Amino acid sequence: MQPISAPFPATRMRRLRRSAWIRDLAQENTLTVADLIWPIFVRDGQNMRQPIPSMPGVERLSIDLVVEAAREGADLGIPCVALFPYTDPSVKTPGAEEAWNPDNLVNRATRAIKQALPDLGVMLDVALDPYNSEGHDGIVRDGVVLNDETLDALNMQSLAQVEAGADVLGPSDMMDGRIGSIRTMLEAKGHKDTLILSYAAKYASAFYGPFRDAVGASGALRGDKKTYQMNPANSDEALREVAIDLEEGADMVMVKPGMPYLDICRRVKDTFGVPTYAYQVSGEYAMIAGAVDRGWMDGDKVMAESLMAFKRAGCDGILTYFAPAMARALRS
Ligand code: PBG
Repeated sequence: MQPISAPFPATRMRRLRRSAWIRDLAQENTLTVADLIWPIFVRDGQNMRQPIPSMPGVERLSIDLVVEAAREGADLGIPCVALFPYTDPSVKTPGAEEAWNPDNLVNRATRAIKQALPDLGVMLDVALDPYNSEGHDGIVRDGVVLNDETLDALNMQSLAQVEAGADVLGPSDMMDGRIGSIRTMLEAKGHKDTLILSYAAKYASAFYGPFRDAVGASGALRGDKKTYQMNPANSDEALREVAIDLEEGADMVMVKPGMPYLDICRRVKDTFGVPTYAYQVSGEYAMIAGAVDRGWMDGDKVMAESLMAFKRAGCDGILTYFAPAMARALRS
């Protein structure tokens, strides 16, 4: 009987995989420390570090230790840190006034970092959820998250953050019109160089669970965030969100969560060609760190593979709790 297949494969893909040198030479994407933004949780006190049970390996740090951590990150080559506050329930109010207190935790931490490390980027989240007694990103009245009233609060929060030295504002609240409103305020106040990294395509996701523990918002949140965060079933809608935010003055855009939404990252990058970031959120970190803790996966390898996936999907950078560990792994 005649052989059915050709005598040899016309294309041998394995030639390109045969040794490390050719794999390196043929590699399409790279991950470097310059791709990483490190989210850090800030708490009050002095010399305090407090583990977060649902995020093994991540701690809330008092400001003095945040500065040390930021220095370590900067020494590793991490370009930017993002600060999130663990707010005591006693300062949470229906009006979320603590959000624009010039001396709130993140603003004090920002001043301390910028004083010690002027060349390190500092990004702050713009949203009311750490400060709001309802745990929502906006002002709530009669059970409704109000859009336009929230914009005024976000402007005050943004101004206090920029005055504290924040280089990048990350509006994560998903109110309509917030990018335009913040950009207009910044220009009017003379802060024309402040960057806005908009959480443009932010989904109503269960992957934020551990984060809400970390910032002390899980107990506070009434209901869910589905009236402002996106439906995980939607994709075209993400492109509309990004288009609007760019039009309103965002410099960079984010997709969040990350790993379950890599298709969105790719569409955003291909459609707009703007600096595009993804947030590998707390639940994604917890899935990996939890499995690694049990010895079910190789931590360093899974971390590196998960972060490379973002580069392959078109992202210019990743917010990740693995930032310092990945930076150390890249160094060695
Ligand atoms: C708050 C905010 C959230 C995250 C970042 N900013 C949570 C939320 O929207 O409920 C989540 C980050 C993470 O899960 O790591 N606006």
